Amino acid sequence: MQLVLLGDSGVGKSCIVLRFVRGQFDATSKVTVGASFLSQTIALQDSTTVKFEIWDTAGQERYSALAPLYYRGAGVAVIVYDITSPESFKKAQYWVKELQKHGSPDIVMALVGNKADLHEKREVPTEDGMELAEKNGMFFIETSAKTADNINQLFEEIGKRLP
Ligand code: GTP
Ligand code: MG
Repeated sequence: MQLVLLGDSGVGKSCIVLRFVRGQFDATSKVTVGASFLSQTIALQDSTTVKFEIWDTAGQERYSALAPLYYRGAGVAVIVYDITSPESFKKAQYWVKELQKHGSPDIVMALVGNKADLHEKREVPTEDGMELAEKNGMFFIETSAKTADNINQLFEEIGKRLP
């Protein structure tokens, strides 16, 4: 199953993937150039397995024209924002629209509010994320790649929602 991660630069896409695939966190994570690819297989509760082929895209504006190369063939799109950054939440709304216009019509979409460990710096209320997700038929979760909170749950829930 091809999965693409989209979202502003710095929201933690690469850290989410690193946490999920290797169980690690990198506080000095470097910006992604172009895109990077990793895969990971998980077992679901009904004892089936899902292999995620993950395209971790670059969030910097200069790479935005490349995004269609990665989301076009994808069965799953994970749109990530940073709960401390309203700007990144706006960008998430842009990606939702873009995927609705140009993504595959049966793509499974998830909305992720990352950096949930930074609660004292929160600027995007949980309710705003929930509302955006609900309006667009997306699965919603808040995660922390730093503490690992909800990272496995994110991928398990996606696995359950696959056709
Ligand atoms: P691009 O590759 O430019 O699109 O950025 P990205 O979305 O891949 O961001 P990346 O994963 O490289 O993380 C950016 C910064 O945020 C790094 O300094 C990470 O250490 C930090 N970071 C990522 N996830 C978390 C998190 O859950 N909590 C905290 N506190 N910091 C995080
Ligand atoms: Mg990255």
